[in-house]
Amino acid sequence: MDIKMIKFRLLSDGRGGLIAIEQLKDIPFEIKRVYYIFDVTEGAQRGFHAHKNLQQVMFCPNGSCKIRLDDGTEKAEVLLDSPDKGLLVKSNIWREMYDFTPGTVLMVLASDYYDEGDYIRDYAEFYRSLKDFNLEEM
Ligand code: TYD
Repeated sequence: MDIKMIKFRLLSDGRGGLIAIEQLKDIPFEIKRVYYIFDVTEGAQRGFHAHKNLQQVMFCPNGSCKIRLDDGTEKAEVLLDSPDKGLLVKSNIWREMYDFTPGTVLMVLASDYYDEGDYIRDYAEFYRSLKDFNLEEM
């Protein structure tokens, strides 16, 4: 699977860490929404959906978690364990987030506003939608 990691530039010095993120420079889209997941219950897993159009960049400014990605053909696992390590999640990718260590914050930059209509929350429907998508592409 084609996984695009984005390495953010560290502007840290003797006083501590600093990272700046700019849309269309560090992030390949205009950022319309930012949300973050925190205080995750031990053992909890999140996500379990794909998006029809939305693109996202995920990173952990603090702590770590794992992201399972599935494009319907291949699965991959990405560990986000550093504030300078971003993961681009394109549309039509099933994602699951898990193994959150205590105190983790998962930050997500999104290419569009929240729209429940853009979600596919059923794996079978996701799988079917890929076939339709691929037929359209032919
Ligand atoms: P959900 O998609 O279940 O979160 P996750 O992907 O982390 O498992 O979202 C939880 C609830 O929050 C759900 O009712 C939708 C709502 N929500 C918003 O209203 N705006 C948002 O930007 C997001 C991401 C979720």
